[in-house]
This record gives sequence, C-alpha cells and structure tokens, in this order.
Amino acid sequence: MDEKLIAPGTIEYKGITLPEIVNTKILESPDIVKCRDDDVFVVSYPKAGTTWAIEIVSLIMNGGDVDANHAVPQPERNPMVESYISRPMQLFMHIMKLLQWILPRFLHLENYVFVPPIHAVSAFDGLRQIERIPSPRLIKSHLPYQFFPSQALEKKCKIIYVARNPKDTAVSLYYMMQLMPVVGNHIKSWNHFYQLFVSGKGGFGDWFDHVLDWHKHEEEDNIIFLKYEDMKKDIRATIKKIALFLDIEVTDDVMQIIVEYSTIKKMKENKSVNLMEKKVDNQTVSFVRKGIVGDWVNHFTVAQNAQFEKMYESRMKDSGLVFEW
Ligand code: A3P
Repeated sequence: MDEKLIAPGTIEYKGITLPEIVNTKILESPDIVKCRDDDVFVVSYPKAGTTWAIEIVSLIMNGGDVDANHAVPQPERNPMVESYISRPMQLFMHIMKLLQWILPRFLHLENYVFVPPIHAVSAFDGLRQIERIPSPRLIKSHLPYQFFPSQALEKKCKIIYVARNPKDTAVSLYYMMQLMPVVGNHIKSWNHFYQLFVSGKGGFGDWFDHVLDWHKHEEEDNIIFLKYEDMKKDIRATIKKIALFLDIEVTDDVMQIIVEYSTIKKMKENKSVNLMEKKVDNQTVSFVRKGIVGDWVNHFTVAQNAQFEKMYESRMKDSGLVFEW
C-alpha cells in the first residue's frame, strides 16, 4: 500500500471512526434526542440505498403524494438526526456557494454542484430540523446501534434498517467521497479507499460491526431488516412488507405511483433527492448513481476480492445473515 492510511473528514469516538459532521452530543448522550411515539426511522450504513428506502417509506406514509415529496429536498423533510456542522461552518458553506460562481478556477470547485445553501443549513443540524417537521416524522440515521437515540428504542418507534452487500457498499461510498468537497481531494484512489474501508475507517465505523449489531435486533417487533438486493429483485414485495410493518394500507393506485417514482431513472431526475453531482474524467457522477448489484466487479482487484472474501467469511460466519452480490 503506497498511500498513507488516513480517513479524511472523520473523527474517532470511543475507537469508532465517524464523519466529522456527526453531532458528538448525541454520541455522548443518545437520550438527548426527543422522540415521539409515532416517529419512524430509516437506518443504515451509508450507501445501502437509504435515500431510495426513505423515498418509498415517505410515499407510503403520505399516500403517494409525489408533488409534496418533490417540493422539499429529502434532507429537510427527512433529516439525518445526527448531522451537525457548526454555525461558522454553515456560514462558510454559504460563502463557498457564492464563491463558486466568482472564483471557480481558483477554488477548483467548477465541477461541483452544491445543494442550495438554504438546504445545506437546515440539513446540517439534524436535532433542530427534526423539531421543525410535523408528526408522523420520518427520520434518517446512520448511527451504529450503541449510539442510536435511546428514547426511540424505549418508545419502540418503528425502525427500518437497510443493509447492502459490503462490496457494492464500499464502491458506492468511494464515489460518494469523490462528491464531497475537500474530503474528495484526499481520497487518492480506489485502492486507498479500499484500505480505509477494510480498516473500518470508511464511513460510520466498521461495516461489519454496524450491520451485525443492528441485525441482532431484527426479531424485535419495532424493527425490520431489509436488504438492498431484495429491493432490487422485487420492489412491490418490499413496499408491501414496509406498509404491513407500518400498518398502512397501500391501494393499487398508490402502489403504482410508488413503483414508478422509486425507479433509479426517476430518482436520478428527482432534484429533491439527487442533490449532488460532479464531473469525474468527463463523466458526471451523481449522488443517485448506477443503482445496481455487482458494480464491485469493476473495482475490486483479484487480490482485494480474495482478502475481502476471507474477512467476510470470518466476520459473518455466526450471523445467519447472507448477502448476494
Ligand atoms: P450506487 O452508488 O452503487 O449507484 P444511500 O442513499 O444510502 O447513500 O445509497 C446510495 C446508493 O443507492 C447509490 O448506489 C444509489 O445509486 C442507489 N440508489 C438510489 N436510488 C436507487 C433506486 N431507485 N434504485 C436502486 N438504487 C438506488
């Protein structure tokens, strides 16, 4: 490995590597998040198809009201509870946005399309933003189980956990990193990111710990565990499963709307969810990207795959959890 193993844009908390946009107050005291009985959470390790699942759950909850969904960016209507950047940093983001138009070449930002500042501000203070939205709230989180809002667990709020096979998760996260201003510049190559991922420094802690800790709770009445690969195979079955879990009736018409608006094509066109894009090697990489199972074959080397398979076998062997890739 030739590149230095640094995890850009992260902090270490109790030995776990987390993005620096995580509100450490929640990590210290998970009970500070004030939860309501009818809150619904979509939880995942990043790049598991969270945005896709949120779009589906949100349409189930609002009776297929696509216009209502499209009118408000997803991070505002379904905030990530743990997201936080300081006020000065929020101001900095506003200024960056303005400077993007004035000094693009100087800042090397000409390839970025930022979320509009007003969205950036509210999306980066999850605790405040969840206070602003009406019940029943649909809230996003990438928190590992041990840091998850304790009130949500005590009140038995409904939790939909989405997991995706780790190889495609790693590849998707690699592209996501490229989209991040500043952080993206520190990811030198796929090889560099792969090393970070297998060291548990790729995103919200170690993928295995995150998924397996949540999976231990899948039998609980208020938790369902979904897999990205199953969603790809049969989206109707997934929608029915979520609706049953939420105890919401989905008519045939609403089902049709949800199926239509949750395709990768519609999600790419949907400016309330596809919030970032950047030109990489003359190709546009966007937040909603390929949306397939198996893109890892285009990135993992033979040696990486052999190493990863070995690691996967040993970490997953007693879990009863199987992924297809
Ligand atoms: P890829 O980068 O592999 O394409 P998250 O929302 O958790 O960040 O996950 C993002 C991943 O979900 C991206 O994967 C994205 O393309 C994929 N995705 C988003 N919408 C999708 C859809 N409608 N169908 C399939 N995959 C989708």
